[in-house]
Amino acid sequence: EVVDATGLHILPGAIDVHVHFRDPGYPHKEDWASGTAAAAFGGVTTVFDMPNTIPPTGTADILAAKHAIASSKAHVDYGLYGLLGEDTIDAVPALVEGGVIGFKCYMGNTFGKIPSPSTGAMLEAFEVVAKTGKRVSLHAETNSIMERRETRLRAAGRTDPLAHLASRPAVVAIEAVSRAAILAEWTGARIHILHISSADELRPLREAKARGVDITGETGPHYLMLSADDYAKFGGIIRVNPPVREKHNQEPLWAALADGTIDMVATDHAPHTPEEKTRNDIWTVDCGFPGVELQMPLMLTAVSEGRLSISDYVRLSAANPAKVWGLYPRKGTIQPGADADLALVDLGKSWTVDDAKLQSRSKISPWHGRPVKGLPVHTIVRGKFVMRDRVLNADARGWGRSVHAIQEMPPAVVCNADQTMQAVTQAGVSKGQAA
Ligand code: NCD
Ligand code: ZN
Ligand code: ZN
Repeated sequence: EVVDATGLHILPGAIDVHVHFRDPGYPHKEDWASGTAAAAFGGVTTVFDMPNTIPPTGTADILAAKHAIASSKAHVDYGLYGLLGEDTIDAVPALVEGGVIGFKCYMGNTFGKIPSPSTGAMLEAFEVVAKTGKRVSLHAETNSIMERRETRLRAAGRTDPLAHLASRPAVVAIEAVSRAAILAEWTGARIHILHISSADELRPLREAKARGVDITGETGPHYLMLSADDYAKFGGIIRVNPPVREKHNQEPLWAALADGTIDMVATDHAPHTPEEKTRNDIWTVDCGFPGVELQMPLMLTAVSEGRLSISDYVRLSAANPAKVWGLYPRKGTIQPGADADLALVDLGKSWTVDDAKLQSRSKISPWHGRPVKGLPVHTIVRGKFVMRDRVLNADARGWGRSVHAIQEMPPAVVCNADQTMQAVTQAGVSKGQAA
């Protein structure tokens, strides 16, 4: 196919390592067709989908069913996370066999109410996953702290958006990041800190990197560009876990992207309906909002404002995600876009975000009305136009493939495997053999 790209820039398609496409489970919020259409319109050629669908992606059978759905509907390439929870540790080898891109561990309660594992279970889980080489991505919020705060605020009758922020002081994230980093250091597991929202989380992240822990992190446009000052305007629409924080966090997050403390941008695309986002009582408003379609325009706006260079953007949106998850479209080389995953963008195009025009089923976001500069005009996945001239290619439905097939993640170096656990397991094995 031929296209006139005069005046456009060609970028590697973005890899968004954190989306919720809700399929199976919540088709009124999103499904694989609508979610990947949103990705295509956003210049995103690969997405990693989270396991808080129904049922959660915690067994090989459930994973196989999700692969079947995704491969039949996806317009862009994808990876599927397996759930790493208290009850799924034994399923890790089968999930790896079944083609997960990595694992997701919920240290704190969020949408989908997946129970958070005890620290003991996390330690075991990290030992098991380290041997497979896959990375564990963490929702790093400490449940017990949040629950106590929320109970008190509810008892005090608080139902406003700022109460949501107050229920999750930054120590919720600091404690979780620190604990996860220590467990990773002890076991050798590779970990990734999802949705970094505060300046305070950066210290444990920096310290762990300095100690040689294989730890990476992401933040999203909402933490870089929105703040507690926007709560009055957007109310429950802006409710998200972790919360959008006070404005003074923004500069340190930008600086952390520049100095490599934070490795990438990801959106945490978390679609809900207008009805679910506008309930009066903040505690009943579903957390999260759509983002996969707007990451590139928002970040290119920051490029046009001189906040970061275009090559910084490519590093944060495509090169680092490919490196961190070992995506090798050509044997031995990581070159984002090398298999013709491309976004052709108009860097000079000024426009205004209109929620009603989003491809996502969730037509409500705190980006509504925001002026941006930069627009993906065509999106190409493995050489095929999936979005052309801002029109979805209907033929591209089902073109998306799971990228676990091109992933290379050698087993991690296991540091301090739990001697007692091994002794227990070996005793069990030899007893079984004797019987
Ligand atoms: C996410 C969702 O809706 O699935 N919501 C959110 O507020 N971020 C879950 C999550 O990532 O914590
Ligand atoms: Zn989360
Ligand atoms: Zn999420």
